[in-house]
Amino acid sequence: MDFTKVRFLLSAYAIRQLPPPVCADIAFAGRSNVGKSSLINRLVGRTNLVKTSSKPGKTQSLNYFFVDEALYLVDLPGYGFARVSQQTRQSWQGLITDYIETRATLACVVVIMDLRHELKVLDRELIDWLRYLKKPYLPVYTKADKLSRNQQQKNAAILDAGLTLTADERIVFSAQTGQGLETLRQRLAAFAEVHPTMQSTSVMPSTDPI
Ligand code: GTP
Ligand code: MG
Repeated sequence: MDFTKVRFLLSAYAIRQLPPPVCADIAFAGRSNVGKSSLINRLVGRTNLVKTSSKPGKTQSLNYFFVDEALYLVDLPGYGFARVSQQTRQSWQGLITDYIETRATLACVVVIMDLRHELKVLDRELIDWLRYLKKPYLPVYTKADKLSRNQQQKNAAILDAGLTLTADERIVFSAQTGQGLETLRQRLAAFAEVHPTMQSTSVMPSTDPI
């Protein structure tokens, strides 16, 4: 799979706006400002395919990118951002929840956490919920460049313990240096290949707004 063959497809604000399920989805979830969009940019080898921001709450819709005509990458809105209205927060979370529960072609949820920070309740809850739903997920600890290798290992071990994970089940990553990039690409390519519910790939998704 060539992750650099990528194009923006659409932004969905409701489930009915999702593209046809002709190939697997890999979704990227995490707290607001954790580095989801930066991780996707690094994954596809672009500096600015996905808009990033130092202001939390930048991504507010499900943003679909189409890789190598074979895989959807889905940038999800961040959770845990307090400075939006309760109503906006609920509609975002409703959309993400419905999406994760109902999207049959969702092959993996990449759950992104900040390697510098202690385990957050919302991250733990998301992973517990994915386990309960039996959805494949891949924890990624990002912003590793901000720590020494020694500190990276210490923090990763603490997060692993909090999430009941072994070291080979997660990836330590940096969008800045590319640490963990090859492992991430390999793991995600494998998810794309094994997905069982694919229809004919000859049906190309429309890029028209719905
Ligand atoms: P929302 O869409 O608002 O939820 O944010 P996001 O999770 O998509 O985060 P985004 O990629 O926009 O990054 C937020 C900030 O963190 C930006 O200032 C990035 O430059 C920075 N950042 C992201 N990843 C890394 C990383 O691996 N290392 C460093 N040093 N900074 C990073
Ligand atoms: Mg974003």
